Amino acid sequence: MKVAISGKGGVGKTTLTAVLAYLLAKDGYRVTAIDCDSSINLPSALGVKDRVTPLSELEDVIKERVYGPLGTYKLNPKVDDIFEEYSVKNDDGVRVLVLGTIEKGGEGCFCPENAFLRAILRHAIFKEKDVLLLDMEAGIEHLGRGTAKGVDILIAVIEPGSRAVETLKRIEKLASDIGIERIAVVVNKFVESEKARELVEEIEHPLLGIIPYDQCFVMADLENKPPYRVCRLDPFIEIKENLMRMIS
Ligand SMILES: Nc1ncnc2c1ncn2[C@@H]1O[C@H](COP(=O)(O)OP(=O)(O)O)[C@@H](O)[C@H]1O
Ligand SMILES: [Mg+2]
Repeated sequence: MKVAISGKGGVGKTTLTAVLAYLLAKDGYRVTAIDCDSSINLPSALGVKDRVTPLSELEDVIKERVYGPLGTYKLNPKVDDIFEEYSVKNDDGVRVLVLGTIEKGGEGCFCPENAFLRAILRHAIFKEKDVLLLDMEAGIEHLGRGTAKGVDILIAVIEPGSRAVETLKRIEKLASDIGIERIAVVVNKFVESEKARELVEEIEHPLLGIIPYDQCFVMADLENKPPYRVCRLDPFIEIKENLMRMIS
């Protein structure tokens, strides 16, 4: 199962990715979480203190895997071992990887890093009990067509606000550009009000769940503690269950 988590900066993508990784690992899944956001913070949300080498820094490995003879690109670069070799395991057995900054060379740029990422997303062999979670920033359209083919679902994280619908539209476009067909929504930092409820009603995609605004997450972030160690997880458990139901 491959899941991409997207949304505007600060909506709670990393928080959701970290908590889902934790809950799924507890359920016995082998979880791999990749930070694809340029402001790297997934490792710390997952309690990883050591620096995780960004994949984009592996220039030699990328070149060796991606380039064929005479500067051509290999269609199916071998990338399976990357997950073991360049990940750091956290206390719950979640493998954490960092993508790093990849070239923003226009839509569908054929940079080696992109070919590498595409290979990772497409060809990584996953067994039934394997889960890949991608923490993705919203502005990743430059990845190009088909990058994320093979990703089962994109979770759009939104905050209830006047720009939420607009954001959703953008995420829909992103999903179709990079080849993800299914979208589900998580509403985060929800504060009860009539307007906020109306907004939730307007969402046309399946709703995985609503996470209330909870100061605990802010504190966890400030104290550099994984949110799942200190905060209430009920809404996340429901989201995880809805997600599994949707995908199976
Ligand atoms: N439900 C919530 N209630 C309150 N604060 C939250 C909630 N979810 C996330 N946050 C806080 O919002 C900030 C941004 O969250 P983060 O997960 O880093 O967002 P993103 O990865 O989308 O940029 C962090 O300080 C985080 O602790
Ligand atoms: Mg983040």
